[in-house]
Amino acid sequence: MNQTQMKLVRIHAFGDSNVLSLDSVPVPELRDDEVLLRVHAASVNPVDFKIRSGGYPQVGESQLPYAMGRDASGVVQRVGKNIGSVQAGAEVYAMSDMTHGTYAEYVILKADQCAVRPTSIDHAHAAAVPLAALTAWQGLFDHGELSNGQRVLIHGGAGGVGHMAVQFARHAGAHVIATASAHDIDFVRELGADEVIDYHGEPFEQLVKNLDVVYDLIGGDTRDRSFKVLRRGGILVSTLGEPSREKADEYGVRVVGYKAKPSGEQLTRIAALIDEGEVRAHIAKTFRLEEAAAAQDFLEKGHLRGKVVLVDIASTP
Ligand SMILES: NC(=O)c1ccc[n+]([C@@H]2O[C@H](COP(=O)([O-])OP(=O)(O)OC[C@H]3O[C@@H](n4cnc5c(N)ncnc54)[C@H](OP(=O)(O)O)[C@@H]3O)[C@@H](O)[C@H]2O)c1
Repeated sequence: MNQTQMKLVRIHAFGDSNVLSLDSVPVPELRDDEVLLRVHAASVNPVDFKIRSGGYPQVGESQLPYAMGRDASGVVQRVGKNIGSVQAGAEVYAMSDMTHGTYAEYVILKADQCAVRPTSIDHAHAAAVPLAALTAWQGLFDHGELSNGQRVLIHGGAGGVGHMAVQFARHAGAHVIATASAHDIDFVRELGADEVIDYHGEPFEQLVKNLDVVYDLIGGDTRDRSFKVLRRGGILVSTLGEPSREKADEYGVRVVGYKAKPSGEQLTRIAALIDEGEVRAHIAKTFRLEEAAAAQDFLEKGHLRGKVVLVDIASTP
């Protein structure tokens, strides 16, 4: 590799999308336990604009300049001395940790964050998968312990995480109920939901009850109203912080709030499901690396079906 400089998108201050800066920096040095990925596509997640605006407590002033992005699909350029599991030239996808941004021509990853990407889809669709799919997988199975025959309500079934969750839950043999806007009902049904509730219409708590699991991607009032639709001993899993313990006791249910973690091992299982045609990633819109601000604005504006992805990064001028 002759390239010594690379483009990446960073913030030097918190604010609106105007603070996103396409910077030129040296291609990072590799440690013995790391992998250098040539990024072809990177997806955009709500956490990105939460960090950018200064609304994400884990990223403070002391971490500026901060490199954006957690998802990547690309080609392994080089591997550190201690890496045996991944080789240069491998096409992998990954969710990075908080220390390296993927809106970049190259990103450093740990080998155990990477998995061989699904071969039946392109880099753009592969990049749409990691954070959203790992969040859904860990929420439903590691935390929610969802199993065959159980009934689950997924709030926000059309979004980045929700559209993955609906497909995973259906694949696991659960009875899947999801909430979505009216314009997304057919989309969520096609993903495999047994029932889709238009959340602008009748309140979901008047339509369902005695559920085993509620998977909450919305928070606030939606989460508060979810306690009463669980059976005693059921579980409310949320991506938006810890649900109320007091309410959990009142309703006799369990609650968990969690943050998704990188996992190459789970991404390998998810890649198999994608290549078997069991799960697909839906892209709402693609942008180029230099359009990262427009991409974040598009996601932040809301009402999305699936994911926003930065594409053709390897050919950024
Ligand atoms: N803890 C973690 O590790 C973790 C990981 C990933 C994501 N998250 C968080 O989880 C949330 C969801 O992430 P995402 O990537 O799926 O977001 P997203 O792609 O923006 O999807 C949100 C979806 O929810 C729909 N929606 C909005 N209000 C709703 C309501 N009251 N009931 C049902 N659906 C509603 C939206 O469409 P309409 O507005 O058109 O209905 C959209 O389809 C975000 O807040 C994100 O930050 C946390």
